[in-house]
Amino acid sequence: MSAESREGVAARVVAWQAVHGRNHLPWQQTRDPYRVWLSEIMLQQTQVTTVLDYYARFLGRFSDVSALAAAPQDEVLGLWSGLGYYSRARNLHRCAQQIMTDHGGAFPRKASLLASLPGIGRSTAGAIAAFCFSERVPILDANVRRVLTRLLGFGQDLASAKNERLLWEHADALLPVRDLDVAMPRYTQGLMDLGASLCTPRSPKCSDCPLVGDCAAFKEGDPERYPVRTRKLSRRAESWQLVILRDGKGRIWLQRRPPTGIWAGMHCVPVFADLESRDVFVSALGSNGQYAQQELQPFVHVLTHRDLHLHPLLIQTDGMVPPVEGGEWLGQDQWSLVGLPAPIRKLLDTTQSSLW
Ligand code: ADE
Ligand code: SF4
Repeated sequence: MSAESREGVAARVVAWQAVHGRNHLPWQQTRDPYRVWLSEIMLQQTQVTTVLDYYARFLGRFSDVSALAAAPQDEVLGLWSGLGYYSRARNLHRCAQQIMTDHGGAFPRKASLLASLPGIGRSTAGAIAAFCFSERVPILDANVRRVLTRLLGFGQDLASAKNERLLWEHADALLPVRDLDVAMPRYTQGLMDLGASLCTPRSPKCSDCPLVGDCAAFKEGDPERYPVRTRKLSRRAESWQLVILRDGKGRIWLQRRPPTGIWAGMHCVPVFADLESRDVFVSALGSNGQYAQQELQPFVHVLTHRDLHLHPLLIQTDGMVPPVEGGEWLGQDQWSLVGLPAPIRKLLDTTQSSLW
């Protein structure tokens, strides 16, 4: 593509965004990097409609980066409860603390520095720098990757790091060259909006697209063949035996998960890798194994790289302290104050209505 065509593409994205793009989302009404950062992290794996509520609640509780940095981790995880991908919340908290200790409480103003902070990858760093500081840097999230590979007819396998780097170079070459203060935020948002509304994975609406005259994939006639990526995520299945200990007041024994791995740092009922170790634990509970027990319906919880097959056992106890490392009895009113993974929260809610 010639330099003039590239400049035309950028100008068309900018003009289209102003008329057809999203311009009234709450995080677009500010250039405060704290707010933009928070929204970008929430939007990484979650839809806009879901993020709206969480974003408002989060800002209501933590109005700036120092308030977030000073909060206990449990409270941050509690406010994140239900959004999933909890490593985002732990990194968010660590990032806020690092900004206080290493950057004097102010976000760095360059994408290259932002990208060195926890949880901020190259694309998120680019988005924050473009939105807040109009830095001339590209983004390449899943939506933008789709738009650009189609526009360019970029058919090389993105499973290879070399091709991924090449696409970043193309993304860089397409950036606006004039009026950057206004153009960079609009262009960045415009590519995201194109990917979300017109250049969708299936049946892109090319006839409405401002780039249809520039688009290699449209000319070829099969935009859906882009982007090309061969490597499939390898999914593994894993079985977990859950033991739900309930006391006479309906409280549940909850422990903090280890600091790494699935649901790291969140609260959960005791988990066992197999039935044998679960049963050793259950017989050690005392009362001569006389506590009432009930196997609940097993279910599958799907994580990015794992299918978790969860097998819950509910045990009614007299509120003794079970022979495990750490934990405490917590009632339903306290569950949202500590971070509980959504499927565990749902499971525990059902135990409240199970009578016996
Ligand atoms: N997804 C990621 N960033 C976004 C933004 N700024 N607006 C809408 N959706 C997004
Ligand atoms: Fe995507 Fe179609 Fe626009 Fe090309 S013309 S960028 S395939 S929507």
